[in-house]
Amino acid sequence: MKKIAVLTSGGDAPGMNAAIRAVVRTAVYHEAEVVGVFQGYQGLVDGDFKRLHVRSVAKILGRGGTILKSARCEAFRTEAGRAQAHANLLRHEVDGLVVIGGNGTLTGALHFNRETGFPVVGLPGTIDNDLAGTDYTIGFDTATNTVVEAVDKIRDTADSHNRLFFVEVMGRDSGFIALQTGIATGAVAVMTPETGITIENLVEILDKGQASNKTSSIVMVAEGHPEGGAFEIAKKVHAISSHYEIRITVLGHLQRGGDPSCFDRVLASRLGVAATEALLDGKTNVMAGFVNDAVAFAPFETAINNKTQSLQDEVRIAQILSI
Ligand code: F6P
Repeated sequence: MKKIAVLTSGGDAPGMNAAIRAVVRTAVYHEAEVVGVFQGYQGLVDGDFKRLHVRSVAKILGRGGTILKSARCEAFRTEAGRAQAHANLLRHEVDGLVVIGGNGTLTGALHFNRETGFPVVGLPGTIDNDLAGTDYTIGFDTATNTVVEAVDKIRDTADSHNRLFFVEVMGRDSGFIALQTGIATGAVAVMTPETGITIENLVEILDKGQASNKTSSIVMVAEGHPEGGAFEIAKKVHAISSHYEIRITVLGHLQRGGDPSCFDRVLASRLGVAATEALLDGKTNVMAGFVNDAVAFAPFETAINNKTQSLQDEVRIAQILSI
């Protein structure tokens, strides 16, 4: 393989730049050329390519966001869009593609590879940590540290006023961020699609806490909870038990920004090297992940499956420790 392309797609995640740097430098180390594709799959469809050199990726290792920009591309969801993307890659004499992103990105890569046979490998870049085939996705560690920092601050004010706070975090339809940060901040309850806590259960938990002299309570809410987000759940709790002084914080996109943690920089670097070497060696249709402290490759079909089952242990721990 003489020339490869790299892109970032979907929601940006801290550590994407570290991954881009690793891909570029590994390819150059193995004497291959690299082109960066801008705005994710949109740039592939539009032919928005730019040659990247070793120094093009200098000083980005510790920067949040993505220098290649990102997008959620409608055109790439269509066969015609993917055919156009393929034509652009061939026109630029690109032999292989590295995609960095989450579920949607890898699903797009899977369709693209099936239709065109073009070699593609993936890197798990999303704060959601919802991809199977890797214990951690790039960006999850930084995002959860950001949430913990914010909730620690909320705790100070919650405690000063004896208030009940509902804090909504991202995660699409999975509860990894909510559970991890709920444990880390001592939340009284974590409302995720996986914990199965109903509104009635929640009120019971809150009442028990109050009876045992809890002065403030934080309820972490995953944005994808079937009962609704923090505002809806707070409203339902208030309807049953109106004596709590409730406040609500939706942390939103601040969770996606910021410089990547040491963990995310190292994860992105290791997976970036592994994915690029795999592509240069002729592997395709796989995501480079990190499982039990070692790099492992999972087919895209496996990676895009939900890995909610591995949350059972965290669910139990959160419940035991919140009494
Ligand atoms: O997948 C990352 C993520 O931040 C999710 O947690 C969230 O649901 C979604 O992206 C938000 O997307 P957007 O930035 O397009 O609003």
